[in-house]
Amino acid sequence: MDQHPITRAVRIQTARTREMEHSTPLFLTSSFCFEDAEEMRAAFAGENNDNIYSRYSNPSVQEFIDKMCVLEGMEAGFATSSGMSAIFGCFMTFLKSGDHLLSCKSIFGSTHTIVTKYLPRWNIDYSYAEIDKPETWEALIKPNTKLIYVETPTNPGLDIVDMEWLGNLAKKHGIILLVDNCFATPILQKPAQYGANLVLHSATKWLDGQGRVLGGVVVGEKNLIDELYLFCRNTGPAISPFHAWLLSKSLETLDVRIQRHCDNAEALVQALENHPKINWIKYPFHPSHPMYEIAKKQMARGGGLVTFDLKGGVEGGKKFMNALNMLSLTSNLGDTRSIASHPASTTHSKLSSEEQLSVGITPGLIRISVGLEHKDDIIGDIMQALAKS
Ligand SMILES: Cc1ncc(COP(=O)(O)O)c(C=O)c1O
Repeated sequence: MDQHPITRAVRIQTARTREMEHSTPLFLTSSFCFEDAEEMRAAFAGENNDNIYSRYSNPSVQEFIDKMCVLEGMEAGFATSSGMSAIFGCFMTFLKSGDHLLSCKSIFGSTHTIVTKYLPRWNIDYSYAEIDKPETWEALIKPNTKLIYVETPTNPGLDIVDMEWLGNLAKKHGIILLVDNCFATPILQKPAQYGANLVLHSATKWLDGQGRVLGGVVVGEKNLIDELYLFCRNTGPAISPFHAWLLSKSLETLDVRIQRHCDNAEALVQALENHPKINWIKYPFHPSHPMYEIAKKQMARGGGLVTFDLKGGVEGGKKFMNALNMLSLTSNLGDTRSIASHPASTTHSKLSSEEQLSVGITPGLIRISVGLEHKDDIIGDIMQALAKS
């Protein structure tokens, strides 16, 4: 009987060395040696899978990739130095001058900057559909549309894309579907089941889960990953073997961590319901979420991110942040430690109010990345800060 992917995320390991170590070894080396000229020639000729240089491949990196392939149900992968280098690497591999990308406005800020500022420099065109209006996506497909790119749930709006529907659309038109699965992780959703050809992550977030390293990973169909590999091997966005080693160890606990993040997030949502200082809360598994039914269909649980809108607007948001005692004020997410952020005064402050609203950011929006502290302490800190905001 095949082992469950959760078991394999714990048990996959680089072949033991002669030391018979139990925990996985770390190959912190930039290059690899050969016994003789013939062996070296064969490696460079691609006649075997020998490691040559860590910009191309490394056993610690491969171990992390192998676990991600099993968790996502994909054939092959490539790991990168950050989530952004994974995204940029995919755009550069699968789009060329004259091509068109289809996405929507609700994508991570730096991704939006690549799409709108850099891709046009190379004559790569884009269109943004309305995330919640399926009919707008098909209408924007052109003969030169080569890639559809989505995040679900989105950061920070927590909007949901119906992946079954989008997977069918991409297939119908023969377009590559690339999904940023950072917020759900493969524990909560597997885009490959809905027809995604490629799935990527900012491993900096839940995959590491401990706020230690930057990293990224793309997994997908082998023929596509072969193309990505050639681009990345030459242009150099490789991940450090040390970071890959940390990430591989982190994957051993991904399932238990995500389940606990979800438990705590559900408890927080319940505690915030009908709070007098709040206009609304947003959580994929809360019935008030506009895409609740779709979230229920494609996600196992609602995830570790909760947002809410303070009645006090921008000033209320700042007061809330200043009143927190335990939650960290930092821009990361997916950490053991609970984190609060106020997008309107920080990450999205350069956007006009209209632009902020168009991606779901209201003046009083607070994003909580719910950590692994005891739920009573997380809720207690948020409640006392709300009383002061
Ligand atoms: C959904 C999503 N994708 C990509 C990224 C970029 O990842 P990184 O910061 O590892 O480059 C982030 C970062 O917050 C993100 O939230």
